[in-house]
Amino acid sequence: MGCRDMIIRPERVEDQTDINHLHEEAFGPGRFAKTAYRLREGVEPVAALSLVALSQIAKDGARLVGSIRFAKISVGGKKGALLLGPLAVFVDYNGHRCGLRLMEQGLELARQQGFGLVVLVGDLAYYQKVGFLQVPAGQFDMPGPIDQSRMLALELQPGTLADYKGVIRGNTL
Ligand SMILES: CC(C)(COP(=O)(O)OP(=O)(O)OC[C@H]1O[C@@H](n2cnc3c(N)ncnc32)[C@H](O)[C@@H]1OP(=O)(O)O)[C@@H](O)C(=O)NCCC(=O)NCCS
Repeated sequence: MGCRDMIIRPERVEDQTDINHLHEEAFGPGRFAKTAYRLREGVEPVAALSLVALSQIAKDGARLVGSIRFAKISVGGKKGALLLGPLAVFVDYNGHRCGLRLMEQGLELARQQGFGLVVLVGDLAYYQKVGFLQVPAGQFDMPGPIDQSRMLALELQPGTLADYKGVIRGNTL
């Protein structure tokens, strides 16, 4: 099966149980201790940017196979940026471009909605496929331990990265 058998649509309330299972499988019980998770505590994902991927050929009907969410953040007090994540795809559906398609669609929506910058902590080798670059060491800091080489950003509007410097915080407003 490939991505042509999948559809991507906005997340619905009834997807929550499947998404919880997905996060358990993908990130394990240690996920709540991670800096990115702690940063998102008390910060609702942006509903208009939460997407799910469904496989239409599962034998028990359409099955949720992937999910992406984004959270509003500020960097050094400046708003207008997003933290990408969690992004997860069930392991038996890995390698079919599901994660890349979720990101491409989510990033395009974010661009249309006027966000300037998207930040994440992850593998450059993967995220550079949709345009993420390493953030210069020291430009961003997080309220918790991070590996600076995994701090990545994507400009949704040209030149925005230079506008953001300092501590990343979840934007609860
Ligand atoms: C990371 C994840 C979302 C990828 O989803 P996926 O749908 O399997 O990935 P895609 O099919 O879109 O990606 C395909 C390409 O990315 C590559 N890729 C996937 N994960 C990678 C990684 N961690 N590092 C480098 N390349 C990676 C694949 O090798 C493939 O490359 P190719 O096109 O050259 O063959 C999925 O493996 C997952 O849920 N992992 C556990 C949770 C996680 O780590 N989430 C990300 C952090 S928030």
